[in-house]
Amino acid sequence: MAELNWDDLAFRYRKANVIIVSYYKDGQWSAPVATKDFDFHFSAFAGVFHYANACFEGLKAFRGVDGKVRLFRPDENAKRLQRSAAHLDMAAPSEEMFLNMCLMCVKENLDFLPPYGHNASMYLRPVLVGCNPQLGIASSTEVAFAVLGAPVGTYSGAAGLTPGTAVLSRNYDRAAPHGTGSYKIAANYATSLHPYNLAHKLGYRELLFLDPATHTKIDEFGSSNFLAIKGNTYVTPLSDSVLPSITNKTLQAVAADFGYKVEKRVVPVEELAEFEEVNACGTAVVITPICSVDDKETLEGNTITKTYRFGSPEHCGPVSEKFYKRIRGIQDGLEEDTHNWCVFL
Ligand code: PLP
Ligand code: COI
Repeated sequence: MAELNWDDLAFRYRKANVIIVSYYKDGQWSAPVATKDFDFHFSAFAGVFHYANACFEGLKAFRGVDGKVRLFRPDENAKRLQRSAAHLDMAAPSEEMFLNMCLMCVKENLDFLPPYGHNASMYLRPVLVGCNPQLGIASSTEVAFAVLGAPVGTYSGAAGLTPGTAVLSRNYDRAAPHGTGSYKIAANYATSLHPYNLAHKLGYRELLFLDPATHTKIDEFGSSNFLAIKGNTYVTPLSDSVLPSITNKTLQAVAADFGYKVEKRVVPVEELAEFEEVNACGTAVVITPICSVDDKETLEGNTITKTYRFGSPEHCGPVSEKFYKRIRGIQDGLEEDTHNWCVFL
């Protein structure tokens, strides 16, 4: 095993043994190779550097209590990558190829797969980038696909389920109406970097984007979906500018298993006043409890027009924690995987 402090990983780059790479050219993918060379070698004229011909995924592998290694819902990531690539008119790996390269990445980097019991895992980052030289604006005809792996703990390094604060993004959008918000493409992240940095400098953990057309409805956080608990109901926004989060889909199934009603619908900003529990959800953390949302006229200005508060700033809400524990339990092999979400190494 690698000599790492498994309790202090946070979510940051750490070099493992190898990355797994395949190239697409002339209608064919090359056989995937495990390489210690972590650099891509292609032209500075490649589309990815100019026109953001790139999309990616994020999923996790876990070492279970039973010693077995589980990948969580990789089939969903394969499908979402295909959907993103199709929007960029770029070739994408088949589901089978995607899965094989993910399994290969975990196997070849096993020294870096955290042991059970540290709330840590291996984050897999499949990336698909256009690599043929070009000058004019065009989709890439040649593509590099790599699966990268890094051991990670919680996103912020804080203990899991530590509540954080959020602020509404009134003067920046992460996506345009009828734009690319529902695809996991690199360009969406570039768009949100500046407002994200502003929010962080102000001390907020999360930035909550509104629907870009009217700014009256909740869309999602910068890198995670929005979900709220209201009585016996799980509420999450229905919007075509939100990324279809696999964690959100998983949580909805878990909520239904626990007998909660699941509502995927338009969520007006003012409804924040009615929620008992609010969370950001995504692969990196499953959920981040949100204890308050500030409504500011602009991220740069000083005027906070309203603050919505949910539960305690010290603890995750009880319903959200129940859902979180079920999912982490399945990932760790502690709970029965009744939906067959896990794929074994
Ligand atoms: N929304 C955005 C914009 C994201 O970047 C992510 C992270 O992947 C999510 C939501 C959560 O998606 P998932 O649960 O599939 O990780
Ligand atoms: C997540 O997996 O929850 C994320 O926020 C992914 C992000 C690092 C792109």
